[in-house]
Amino acid sequence: MNIDVFTLFPDWFQWFASQRHVSNVVAGGSSLECLNFRDHTPLSGGQVDDMPFGGGAGMVLRVDVVESALRARYGVDPVELRQRRRVVALTPGGRLLDERLLGELAAEPDLTLLCGRYEGFDERILEQFVSEEISIGRYVLSGGELAAMVLCDAVLRKLPGALGHERSAVEESFSETLGGHPEYPHYTRPAEYRGWRVPEVLLSGHHQRIEDWRRERSRERGERG
Ligand code: 6GU
Repeated sequence: MNIDVFTLFPDWFQWFASQRHVSNVVAGGSSLECLNFRDHTPLSGGQVDDMPFGGGAGMVLRVDVVESALRARYGVDPVELRQRRRVVALTPGGRLLDERLLGELAAEPDLTLLCGRYEGFDERILEQFVSEEISIGRYVLSGGELAAMVLCDAVLRKLPGALGHERSAVEESFSETLGGHPEYPHYTRPAEYRGWRVPEVLLSGHHQRIEDWRRERSRERGERG
């Protein structure tokens, strides 16, 4: 999978890209590239945003700037780009990111993420260039970058080779294996600490009973909401 992230703060992603599961999938042939809107702005002085028409606080990312950045990268009119690859704008009001949406995104060969800053995007960017808007929750962050990292983290760890340990992704919270429920509780040594004992069944070495116990706990947690 190839992910392009357009942002005004590409260096924020350096730390993210150095995380093990990300470098693992990149070593496996995927890519995560960060592009700076500022690098191809047609405006002087590296300008990328402007004051909102009608007044109001904050600055708005300009449609001409986003078009230039997308054209420079893909060599096509951005209006056509979204027919070829999924172009996502990170916005607080977008479709909420959940396990189902992540499954869809992880199946895409190519993904383009647009991070807005300040007050956000000129509406024409969202109407004309973007396939969909995605949000990571109903609260406002000061830009799309952290949301893009959350999305990339959750998508990339689904790809083969990300975790090193393939079972971890299959049996984790909200996976199909667990019927969409949260994950069962985990314990490690010591088996007893301050009188708090690990459930006996986990020490029993009885694989079927352990599996049954885990599914049951997972189901209970799902009911708890
Ligand atoms: Cl995707 N962007 C911003 N700016 N704030 C958010 C968000 C996205 N998701 C939740 N809050």
